[in-house]
Amino acid sequence: MNLLLSIKNLSKSFKSNSGEIKVIDNISLDIYNEFFVILGPSGCGKSTLLRIIAGVDKPTSGNIIFQTGKPPRFGFVFQFPSLIPWITVLENVAIVLKNMGIPKNEAEESAKKYLSIVGLSGFENVYPYELSGGMRQRVNLARALSVQPEILLMDEPFSNLDPLTAENLRAEILDIWLSNITPMKAIIMVTHSVDEAIFLADRIVILTPRPSKISNIVNVDLPRPRNRRSPEFEKIEDLVYSYVS
Ligand SMILES: Nc1ncnc2c1ncn2[C@@H]1O[C@H](COP(=O)(O)OP(=O)(O)OP(=O)(O)O)[C@@H](O)[C@H]1O
Ligand SMILES: [Mg+2]
Repeated sequence: MNLLLSIKNLSKSFKSNSGEIKVIDNISLDIYNEFFVILGPSGCGKSTLLRIIAGVDKPTSGNIIFQTGKPPRFGFVFQFPSLIPWITVLENVAIVLKNMGIPKNEAEESAKKYLSIVGLSGFENVYPYELSGGMRQRVNLARALSVQPEILLMDEPFSNLDPLTAENLRAEILDIWLSNITPMKAIIMVTHSVDEAIFLADRIVILTPRPSKISNIVNVDLPRPRNRRSPEFEKIEDLVYSYVS
């Protein structure tokens, strides 16, 4: 496995009326070309850590070292869907590409391609309010993939979906990841679901409650697609739960 980035002694505090709140407490991690999952309880600092990796928030101390010497291209799927309501689905994806300086025609062709990859062909010209929650999250995914990220960051992408829709989308993300149709080298995903983490990840880092430290790192060495009822899956589940609690 190739090392992509190293998180070195990273800490983060926020100032509040009642003083400083420490959210991340001295985390060090290496991330390789892998499906990497960050698992931890609500409020422990998972989204904060992901934002720091993306470079949209700064650590209080410590740093992130990228193997190539500079940050890779990131795609970001946010915890809460973030589509612009007054433009179409196609424009919601294409706008990101146009902002990168890609000509309109090319941006729209590319947007169509990624909408089709996430199963939304035929919905290019509808508005976000005409879509279900699951479809909106697919648009978010298409938008994140359309920038051809080297690292895809996903912040609880399934937690606001019903169980069936979430399960379908998990399978599709795995397909995209395993098919190599995009130049993605790693996925870093945040979740608080043990089951989801084991279903998807190559490795899981388990964080403690705030201020988050690393509780443990678990390798999930199971063939895909994974069978949740297999004894091997359940064994890893027991192990992860023992670190969570
Ligand atoms: N900009 C900010 N200013 C002040 N406090 C913040 C800020 N962002 C996050 N926090 C605090 O940092 C802590 C961690 O927040 P974060 O959103 O990273 O948690 P999380 O693990 O993603 O939680 P959840 O699972 O509920 O999404 C929380 O206590 C939150 O109130
Ligand atoms: Mg969060």
